Amino acid sequence: MFRRLETADAEISFSYEGLEIVARAGDSVAAALLAAGETRLRETPVSGAPRAPYCMMGVCFECLVEIDGVGNRQACLTPVAAGMRVRRQRGARGVG
Ligand code: FES
Repeated sequence: MFRRLETADAEISFSYEGLEIVARAGDSVAAALLAAGETRLRETPVSGAPRAPYCMMGVCFECLVEIDGVGNRQACLTPVAAGMRVRRQRGARGVG
């Protein structure tokens, strides 16, 4: 679905749902997941419908994930970091 441009950027790895994902330094979490073929980043609170990143610029909030135990993180605005633990967000998370 998505294809990376060839670059010489360093590769780093993080986990998503317990699976190792290889990303490029400078990727957002959303870009790294889409490049890895992961499109189901969260599930809606009411029906559990799967959602994927849409705007990739912080407007739609379709990319909410849990990062290192903290929910409601916008994957499209969060730079990926080595060792980061990312999980799909299921339903609504509390504030704070
Ligand atoms: S993809 Fe729209 S806010 Fe992240």
